[in-house]
Amino acid sequence: KLLVFSGTQPSGKLTIGNYIGAIRHWIVMQKYYECMYCIADLHLISTVSSSNVYAFRKMSLDTLALYLACGVDPNVSTIFMQSHVPEHTQLNWLLNCCAYYGELSRMTQFKEKSKFKQDSVNVGLFNYPILMAADILLYQTNFVPVGDDQKQHLEFTCNIARRFNNKFGTVFTIPKILVPDFGSRIMSLLNPLKKMSKSDQDSNNYISLLDDATLISKKVKRAITDSDQPPAIYYDPVEKPGVSNLLAILSGIGGESISNLELIFKNKTYSCLKSNLIQSLSTVLKQIQNRYFNERSNENKLNNILCVGAKKARQKANLTLKKVYQLIGL
Ligand code: TYM
Repeated sequence: KLLVFSGTQPSGKLTIGNYIGAIRHWIVMQKYYECMYCIADLHLISTVSSSNVYAFRKMSLDTLALYLACGVDPNVSTIFMQSHVPEHTQLNWLLNCCAYYGELSRMTQFKEKSKFKQDSVNVGLFNYPILMAADILLYQTNFVPVGDDQKQHLEFTCNIARRFNNKFGTVFTIPKILVPDFGSRIMSLLNPLKKMSKSDQDSNNYISLLDDATLISKKVKRAITDSDQPPAIYYDPVEKPGVSNLLAILSGIGGESISNLELIFKNKTYSCLKSNLIQSLSTVLKQIQNRYFNERSNENKLNNILCVGAKKARQKANLTLKKVYQLIGL
């Protein structure tokens, strides 16, 4: 069976961007592939300050419960914490020695996150894409479903895998990056030129999977549409970023294609589009939330899933790591 690998950082609440860009595809892929879904807590510590360290374990369990609530099935997929599988950091070091300073300095996400603090940026943030490569390559992954913002990191993963294979002997499968045509870049509600992000300072920019109907309504009503006259509803992210973003969200949540939505909303008003979106988001998120609170209340079950997941992941990861050690001559 072909293998799928993906993950999220457990930084508090997941947003509809994470759901539409990644997690909803994970659910579908479970039917056809062997799936490994990781909670990337080691990635998270590259951005965390000491004041929120205490909440780490809680945030990880919150994230796991959200995976389950969205439909990731622990009986079918392997769900685990990155920090429970030490092979990730072991392979990370070996890959470090194959990665170039230049290529990592060119990573957009690193450049953004390190802007204005060149001297004090932590090396973990610089190393971040190499740990992602280790995550993926350990499992001989065939497919990695992610949002658009991770594309550059995954291209790096493929490059470093090829380089390693050439240098030491073929050991890594070169993964295929799956970035869907629509919904892979959900934008901020108040600034549709910026990506929707769960770490945004202003929570009006994103909708969390745990926002209730009142909040959803408030945020969608405030969302930027476009100022062209007369108002028209069609998908064109360059000319109409605001409306296109709302269409992408509605399509990602409700499952209707963008072209169908364009037909449905032809000659309709922006407020009609917004009230449909509010309706659709409230219904879908309510279902997710009901399941979430149910799953979250059973910590024994959650811990058990992570225990079983780590065991399965370690077994697999070990096979690759052993081969790598042998090839290098360690
Ligand atoms: P993270 O936690 O930032 O995001 C998780 C997933 O959600 C996607 N995503 C979005 N998709 C559409 N629109 C958005 N606004 C949006 N924001 C986020 C991301 O592209 C991602 O697919 N480093 C990764 C986690 C990770 C990982 C991996 C992923 C660690 N190891 C190995 C894949 C393979 C991250 O921080 O994702």
